[in-house]
Amino acid sequence: MFRKLWVSLLAVALLSFVAASFAWGFGMVKFAVISDPHLSYPAANTKDYVKMEDSSIVLFKEAIDSVNAIPDLDFVILAGDLTKDAEPWNVDLLREMLEEIRVPVYAVLGNHEVSPIPPKDKEAPLATLIGDSKYTVVFALQGFGFNGPQSYWTAEPVPGLLLVGLDTTKVGSWGGKVSPAQLQWLENVLATNRDKLTIVVGHHLLVPFREEEKKPEWKNFYLDNAEEVIALFEKYPQVSFYLCGHRHVSTIPVEKNGIWYIENASTVTYPMSYTVYTLTPQKLEYEVVRLKATPKIWEVAKKTMAEDAFWKPTESASAEETLAYVEAADFVKFSMPVRFQK
Ligand SMILES: [Fe+2]
Ligand SMILES: [Fe+2]
Repeated sequence: MFRKLWVSLLAVALLSFVAASFAWGFGMVKFAVISDPHLSYPAANTKDYVKMEDSSIVLFKEAIDSVNAIPDLDFVILAGDLTKDAEPWNVDLLREMLEEIRVPVYAVLGNHEVSPIPPKDKEAPLATLIGDSKYTVVFALQGFGFNGPQSYWTAEPVPGLLLVGLDTTKVGSWGGKVSPAQLQWLENVLATNRDKLTIVVGHHLLVPFREEEKKPEWKNFYLDNAEEVIALFEKYPQVSFYLCGHRHVSTIPVEKNGIWYIENASTVTYPMSYTVYTLTPQKLEYEVVRLKATPKIWEVAKKTMAEDAFWKPTESASAEETLAYVEAADFVKFSMPVRFQK
């Protein structure tokens, strides 16, 4: 009698698990997000500071080796600011390094892929050089999400999971927006893919992560038309997560009307990291992985973060409070429910 009951209970549990697992057409998916690598050969206008430019190759290489060592990884996302300022030699290096990643890679553009090298940074012999155009970068990144001349894309890395890569850049500015043509394209994509759990990736932020970020000086961190983009996401229940970079330090994700907005850590800003995500039809979990680098790189990155006024969590924060904020254990692991459970 008891045996029969146990068998029935087990069968029900198994059937519910199988039903749930196939609700979105996949069981478990694991992916990594590497953000803001700001890849750069050391040059006259580079340095190791709050962006560890001179160490950027070493740090990106370590992130690549580290994700390549994750046995069940399905794909990698790059959340923009891939190069210092789209210098042709750095774009070439980026392409070569991306080819070392053993799983599919999906990249979006950051403001450093489309903005000219700022004049203040120009020093001889680089004074006459400028970065590649946005579409030269798109051309260089063919096969890494980009497929043709369009600067935004979709991909289905596993059946039932849709990735949407947005171009949130504004040429000549470090702020962001989504163009009207792209919004129309996005609406069409979402309307015709209602049966796929959707993760949208863009470089810029859509929501503030702290009170201080609502101040005008933070304007360029957010999309000019964030409200419009959010409204579009909210119209479609399959849109569950928005992943971004641009802010360099990880934070606690923000939930708004069932959609989670997640900032991804940079490989070149203290505490230099990337993020590993595990997605099931029910939830998305992540763990931030610190890069080992070298003691010297850690020392410089920590010192420059502590001294940099711009990255303070509040205006009056001390160096210790700033470091405690960016190192916060609360940022390292997180779990979020999928917005619409099938
Ligand atoms: Fe960046
Ligand atoms: Fe950025």
